[in-house]
Amino acid sequence: MDMTAQQVENLIRTNESLLELNRKLQLAQDQLMQSEKLASIGQLAAGVAHEINNPVGYVFSNFGTLERYLADLFRMLGAYEEAEPLLAGTPAARRLADLRREIELDYLKEDVPTLMAESCEGIKRVRKIVQDLKDFSHVDARQEWEWADLHKGIDSTLNIVNNEIKYKADVVREYGALPEIECLPSELNQVFMNLLVNAAHAVSKERGTIVIRSGVDAGGAAAWVEVEDDGCGIAKENLSRVFDPFFTTKPVGKGTGLGLSLSYGIVKKHGGRLEVDSEPGRGTRFRITLPVRRAALAVAEEAVQ
Ligand SMILES: Nc1ncnc2c1ncn2[C@@H]1O[C@H](COP(=O)(O)OP(=O)(O)OP(=O)(O)O)[C@@H](O)[C@H]1O
Ligand SMILES: [Mg+2]
Repeated sequence: MDMTAQQVENLIRTNESLLELNRKLQLAQDQLMQSEKLASIGQLAAGVAHEINNPVGYVFSNFGTLERYLADLFRMLGAYEEAEPLLAGTPAARRLADLRREIELDYLKEDVPTLMAESCEGIKRVRKIVQDLKDFSHVDARQEWEWADLHKGIDSTLNIVNNEIKYKADVVREYGALPEIECLPSELNQVFMNLLVNAAHAVSKERGTIVIRSGVDAGGAAAWVEVEDDGCGIAKENLSRVFDPFFTTKPVGKGTGLGLSLSYGIVKKHGGRLEVDSEPGRGTRFRITLPVRRAALAVAEEAVQ
């Protein structure tokens, strides 16, 4: 059967649209996988945090008790030392003197408080990390719209990605006064995380600076957060592509190119905007603008359309 030119053309067109559809499906699937991966990492982190939370809790509380006991023991020791002259010349006095030398009592008395203070500091840090992991993954309030403090989210995210950043850049926080925002906090944390890690990766010289700014817009109806770095910047021809899925300039295996496209999606879901401004060789600034109240923006958007 011969096909007319029209039929052939129709077939070609159908084929093209199927290919396009297929590409879109593939993309959606890849994005879904990436966000599922992030979600499961969050869940794993939260699980670990939960497990550590308990032992850390009692070590911390025992520490307080131990410090009090030690103070009591030292007081007791002081009293014994005061009474020591009464034993002068006896075998007991000699044994005490030997022991004092053997255990280096003077040094020990100095060192114990230092050790206690350091350990206490350490356990406090572990506690903070556990709390940050919990805040970051937001297990307690999974996927719920809630009123949240963006600065808190940024701070706990910073602690989580600290390792990626601390050897490369100093972080300067120029926080403005922000109201609480109606949002999905753990998803926004993923946006902050990606912007911060990207900024750290962009640092090209010895040591860079990452500035995090925040403030309100639109007469207080919107909040914005900026992450600015003084890194390599983005070439003009790439600026419009950074939000494209799989666009990456990083070596294979280093970046998937999904970070910004996911972030874009998350900000959009919040009814907000994610914008970029960059100058090659000077640095890059990403700005997230979010409506303070979820409904308010939907209404505003409708008004625009
Ligand atoms: N702060 C920045 N400075 C310079 N280039 C940037 C910056 N942020 C993003 N880019 C560019 O945009 C590209 C895409 O970023 P995106 O976060 O989407 O993916 P990625 O960081 O390459 O990989 P990953 O999926 O691991 O995040 C980066 O490869 C980089 O070229
Ligand atoms: Mg990235």
